Amino acid sequence: MQDVERLKQELNQLNAEYVKIKDIPPEERAEFGRKMNEKKQEILAQIAAAEKAAIDAAVEPLDITAWSGTNEALPEFYTAEMGSKHPLMTELDRVIDIYQLMGFDVVESRQLDDEFHMFDSLNFPKGHPARDGYDTFRTEEGLIPPAHTSTMQHRVLKKYKNNLASGKPIAVVVPGRVFRNEDVDATHEHTFYQCEGVYVSETCAMSDMLGILREFFEKYYEQKLNIRTQPGYFPFTEPSLEFMIEKPKSLGGKKGDYLEMLGCGMIHPNVLKMAGIDPEKYHGFAWGGGIDRLVMLRYGLKDVRLFESGNLNFLREF
Ligand code: DAH
Repeated sequence: MQDVERLKQELNQLNAEYVKIKDIPPEERAEFGRKMNEKKQEILAQIAAAEKAAIDAAVEPLDITAWSGTNEALPEFYTAEMGSKHPLMTELDRVIDIYQLMGFDVVESRQLDDEFHMFDSLNFPKGHPARDGYDTFRTEEGLIPPAHTSTMQHRVLKKYKNNLASGKPIAVVVPGRVFRNEDVDATHEHTFYQCEGVYVSETCAMSDMLGILREFFEKYYEQKLNIRTQPGYFPFTEPSLEFMIEKPKSLGGKKGDYLEMLGCGMIHPNVLKMAGIDPEKYHGFAWGGGIDRLVMLRYGLKDVRLFESGNLNFLREF
């Protein structure tokens, strides 16, 4: 820091000299000012460099490997207010792990998409009222922050369709952030997370889908579950179902307390066709559901807004 003090003194002297400008002939003042300013910038740059060097020298690099395998706590500076992973991301990792253990690939969705992937590629007829059901945001350029992870189905089908030719199924999950122009309340957010699943093969059937979904939910909630489906409607699946689980007793559920967890169904032949997959030869199923809701049930959370709130008291509970 000595350097910094010395440089600051130089800067003060320079500023003091600057007043002399009034004593020199007017035609020399411009040149005098320019020179003074040049010197000033030079000193300021030296001060900045000296300050940075002083900070670098004061912070000892920490060798965190020194703590591995010991029971000693890290120095307080490194633990007091360190950030931590957001609970939704921790849970999303668990979700992905479960699917990966079942053999699914993972493709991340994107946060800005277009009309084609949001609607056309998913067999929404042009001008169909179902398009209004998704409360989509639009940018001034006409792009769409995706309202569901199904926007990725077409890309996934195209990217993986060579699997089919070599006798392998398409088995992919797509986690992602989605956006809806919703009135926000304890159970609705404008920004939330979904996970999509896509499976295509020559022989797969609805029963395989129900088996995969049961397996997923039983792994996630770490217990046996009762499941149920009811008919649903999505333009991109035929037939379409809503998948429900009976709320487990351990999570405050009563018998017959069924919760809808996601939408699913057999992929519509038009969706396969648009991606260049022959629907006469191959069948597929797909599903998509909210991660926030999944996590809320697991931890007994009552207000979805907590996730996006940045509320540190809430985050510290995890
Ligand atoms: N994308 C739908 C939604 O957000 C959920 C869904 C339904 C996804 C059926 C699917 C599906 O993949 O097959 O409401």
